[in-house]
Amino acid sequence: MEHVVVDGSEVVVKDPQSLRHKISSIRLAGPEKLQVIADFDATLTKYWIDGRRGQSSHGLLRQGSPEYDEKRQKLYEYYHPLEFDPTIPLDQKAKLMEEWWGKSHALLVEGGLTYDAIKKSVTNSTIAFREGVVELFEFLEEKDVPVLVFSAGLADIIEEVFRQKLHRSFKNVRVVSNQMIFDQNGQLVSFKGKTIHVLNKNEHALDMAAPVHDRIDNVNGLNEDNSFVKKRTNVLLLGDHIGDLGMSDGLNYETRISVGFLNDNVENSLESYLKAFDVVYLNDTSMQGVVKLASQLC
Ligand code: TMP
Repeated sequence: MEHVVVDGSEVVVKDPQSLRHKISSIRLAGPEKLQVIADFDATLTKYWIDGRRGQSSHGLLRQGSPEYDEKRQKLYEYYHPLEFDPTIPLDQKAKLMEEWWGKSHALLVEGGLTYDAIKKSVTNSTIAFREGVVELFEFLEEKDVPVLVFSAGLADIIEEVFRQKLHRSFKNVRVVSNQMIFDQNGQLVSFKGKTIHVLNKNEHALDMAAPVHDRIDNVNGLNEDNSFVKKRTNVLLLGDHIGDLGMSDGLNYETRISVGFLNDNVENSLESYLKAFDVVYLNDTSMQGVVKLASQLC
């Protein structure tokens, strides 16, 4: 086990030899075999911002109608504890999560969510990317390595966060999340395709990749060829929950390096994170270590 502090980031690797081996396999296969699969909330974004919890793509949304915001908050208070209840069997929990996402999406439509409200919500939100995310995306863009950003949140909000917080887009980055369909007046009318919730993130997300740039003009975004994801059989996976490892399930990968951000509750969770992830970063650290790791891979 290796437990070191590099450039202010505390990082733990349970099996350094296995990691070195994986790094050289991926490097040998070349960048054309590699893809990055990253969770969004609390993985690409910070867990803490100025002493406050950073918001998620769902959490930051203000619909412009306090009545509907409150209704969604009530759903959150009911379902969020169930999401983390270890006593509920997975199949039952999946049904509950489907129920939650279904009701929540229906409230967004019923409450007349507009694209304008999304823009305003992002402007007023407490959300920020980890330092080093831009560097990581730029490096991967240079190497033509695609990045799939997976989330059970809301694609349109995540893309607005990219626009407002990064002020640029990356041609290699795609968001795989729940996509909204707006009418000509910019009002939400429905959601596209099957709902992605926390427990089915892995099942079909690979088929739903839409480019981050120009998605407003290209609402379905599905006319792009997604076959590349299946051909790139080496994976660098970034997540903050053990369940995020399922994001690469749809892929018959050869070598996968998994990086876990353990943002909170380190004492209780470190052991299980070390079993699950090849590399574990502690205490809501920056993305700089991942930038270095990526540069060893291609
Ligand atoms: P993810 O970002 O890890 O993919 O998970 C999405 C989170 O969104 C999940 O923890 C539950 C949360 N959520 C809300 O906060 N409000 C909602 O209305 C819904 C449906 C989910």
